[in-house]
Amino acid sequence: MTISLDFTNMFLPGAVTDADWADAAGRFRGAHAAVAGKHARGELGFFDLPGDAALLAQTTRFAEAARGRWSDVVVLGIGGSALGPIALRTALRPFGWNSLTDAGRGGLPRLHVLDNVDPDTILATLEALPLERTLFLVTSKSGGTAETMAQYLLVRGALDERFGARATEHLVFVTDPEKGSLRPIARAQNVAALDIPANVGGRFSVLSPVGLLPAALVGVDVAALLAGAEEMRQRCASAELGANPAGAFAVLQWLAHTRHGRGIHVLMPYADPLRDFAAWFVQLWAESLGKIQPGGESVGPTPVPALGATDQHSQVQLFMEGPADKTVTFLAVAGREGRAPIPALHGDVPDLAYLGGHTLGELLEIERRATASALAARGRPNMTLTLDAVDAAHVGGLIMLLEIATAYAGELYGVNAFDQPGVELGKRFTYGMMGRPGFDEARAEFDALPQSDPRRRV
Ligand code: PA5
Repeated sequence: MTISLDFTNMFLPGAVTDADWADAAGRFRGAHAAVAGKHARGELGFFDLPGDAALLAQTTRFAEAARGRWSDVVVLGIGGSALGPIALRTALRPFGWNSLTDAGRGGLPRLHVLDNVDPDTILATLEALPLERTLFLVTSKSGGTAETMAQYLLVRGALDERFGARATEHLVFVTDPEKGSLRPIARAQNVAALDIPANVGGRFSVLSPVGLLPAALVGVDVAALLAGAEEMRQRCASAELGANPAGAFAVLQWLAHTRHGRGIHVLMPYADPLRDFAAWFVQLWAESLGKIQPGGESVGPTPVPALGATDQHSQVQLFMEGPADKTVTFLAVAGREGRAPIPALHGDVPDLAYLGGHTLGELLEIERRATASALAARGRPNMTLTLDAVDAAHVGGLIMLLEIATAYAGELYGVNAFDQPGVELGKRFTYGMMGRPGFDEARAEFDALPQSDPRRRV
């Protein structure tokens, strides 16, 4: 597994300086020690997922027993319970997996991830599914998230109506080993249940059964995914900034933001299989780092997903000439230069003739290099994470790199990267308006807020 970070283009006039970098070495050692301390106290379970043989065995046993039984697997979940499974499906299954024939998928099931409570999507999905051959993975760390519980109730209603007492055969709960509402239901009704370790939070859970189970069910090599993550974990053990890719990533982003005003952090894969990986990263970086510091100051970077070369024709104009408030991290995939030769046709048409004899892989990679250099030439800092391949080991490595980087960045920004207090008020208002017992006060608080003013509507 080879993943490298080239950060040459972060060192530009108006961006990170050698002095910043030298100063940050000590600060990074402090962040590294703080993260190691939290891990040693058992707080950061995501570090241990690659080595958790019991969890892997639980997952693979379940997936093997399910082999051949299901045509469709549906993840019910949201946030960290959905973005990881989506990213793994896009990265590690052939393009258009759910549209392939049974033979094209090697007899493995399609994988759907609901990720929202839009009635149109859910009703259409349920209508299209062959229920007798569909397995639902109800995924919620807390076991109480309103959206996921609502998805579950809809599905459960349909399953009960159709299969009666055998409805539970179509369900697996992926949840905290003890807490939340799903666990007691699993126990009482004998629903299969897999564990998300208590010390693993939602957006850090993709290497637990949250991501592993759906991935294993559709044939991803989950052992290789974990092996890649473990290799990266070991690479990131160093307290030396120059030897720790997660440390370098976190420190460069933090320096660019806090010393040079570059607080918008774009992640731009130049590989369609990594497109949904950018959405996974956005949640990780945003929900972990956008916080109020203990002293009362609001801090945090704003992550933005992009896709090369597509967004060269959309967002890159802004990255080049808009406000100088961004960094761009490219995700590159090596070794695709020979892929998809371009026929040498229309030799007399200059706009087409020069393309013949090259390949699409070459064009995409050259466009990435051109964009990186063009940004640098305009003083726009950027860096490139290069993967030797988009396979399970590299994706596992990349996940671990960015998760560890997020933990370091939490220390650098001076916030707790592992909570999300800012989403609570909206949840309480929702509970109040949905009539949940115990939330009358939240309802009253909501009602007392200024509501839509007719003078401010058109
Ligand atoms: O990172 C987090 O903790 C959150 O974004 C959760 O993933 C999200 O709220 C879903 O929570 P749960 O898995 O408890 O249903």
